[in-house]
Amino acid sequence: MVVTTTKSNSDEQLRSTFASRYATTSLPRFKIPSGSMPKEAAYQTVNDELMLDGNPRLNLASFVTTWMEPECDKLIMASINKNYVDMDEYPVTTELQNRCVNMIAHLFHAPVGDDETAIGVGTVGSSEAIMLAGLAFKRKWQAKRKEQGKPYDKPNIVTGANVQVCWEKFARYFEVELKEVKLSEGYYVMDPAKAVEMVDENTICVATILGSTLAGEFEDVRLLNKLLTKKNEETGWDTPIHVDAASGGFIEPFLYPELEWDFRLPLVKSINVSGHKYGLVYAGVGWVVWRSTEDLSDELVFHINYLGSDQPTFTLNFSKGSYQIIAQYYQFIRLGFEVIIPNKNFLKGQDRSLFLYDQISGISK
Ligand SMILES: Cc1ncc(COP(=O)(O)O)c(C=O)c1O
Repeated sequence: MVVTTTKSNSDEQLRSTFASRYATTSLPRFKIPSGSMPKEAAYQTVNDELMLDGNPRLNLASFVTTWMEPECDKLIMASINKNYVDMDEYPVTTELQNRCVNMIAHLFHAPVGDDETAIGVGTVGSSEAIMLAGLAFKRKWQAKRKEQGKPYDKPNIVTGANVQVCWEKFARYFEVELKEVKLSEGYYVMDPAKAVEMVDENTICVATILGSTLAGEFEDVRLLNKLLTKKNEETGWDTPIHVDAASGGFIEPFLYPELEWDFRLPLVKSINVSGHKYGLVYAGVGWVVWRSTEDLSDELVFHINYLGSDQPTFTLNFSKGSYQIIAQYYQFIRLGFEVIIPNKNFLKGQDRSLFLYDQISGISK
């Protein structure tokens, strides 16, 4: 929900020029009209007002997907009325979400055995993914402190001051102190050495970013893992790492596969990524994956049985649309793991390069 700041003037009326064939009276702006109107009039009224919105295809203000192939649009329209949470009714959609989780876990080198399934969930975006990951860290830290007979009422999390607002939200909503490493002139991401210095026995995790929101820079997760391992050895703590790969998670494995930032590093216990950024799906999908079942407390998983069988859920909301999950699966199988950098073939009009270039640059034919 975006908190509305529009001043409510209950007397204000809306007039629709082009719907006047159907609707002769004006509409109250902030109250439900006293009567109904023909569907054509409702359509025309809303459509006309929306013309004042910007054009999504020209929106380069954020890096969220605004164009998908018509074939995928068809799949989206066909599934727009499916509720993601009704797993018994839509088992194939559930299966596609599970496939996506496994594909992402493998992409990030999770140590998933051949006969094992990966641990993760589709979310509304990276923000929800981060709330879930943060909660898992908090719960795990609390359980350990309780077991040790130590106080567990002052958890903190260490991040760079460049973190996206969702980390501040997590800290405030779930009562965790946010300890931010200050940025310095010419260095606008978290310094791993300073982050490790700030870690104490109450630190539930260090959150590092792969693709800083402000300038897209990757933080040095490898160095962070090395320094934190040393500190853990010296102190006997086992402070873990979360990687916020909202933007970088779907770029890095394709462009810099040799860079170690993911589950190849032992302290990385969870990773989030936005499907609606470089996962190339319209707004409304993110992912969080955990290294192993040990990293996600059972206590956080709810088992419901409203529709006939056991449904484990770990999300902040309940009902939501399914189409983004289906669209994400479409993109995975459509594009595959093929690294194609636009080159001179693009100029020769090779269809595939052109397609990828469109996707990368946000420009469509
Ligand atoms: C680094 C980072 N983390 C988290 C988020 C939140 O992502 P979402 O919009 O998918 O909730 C963003 C969004 O820009 C981001 O850049």
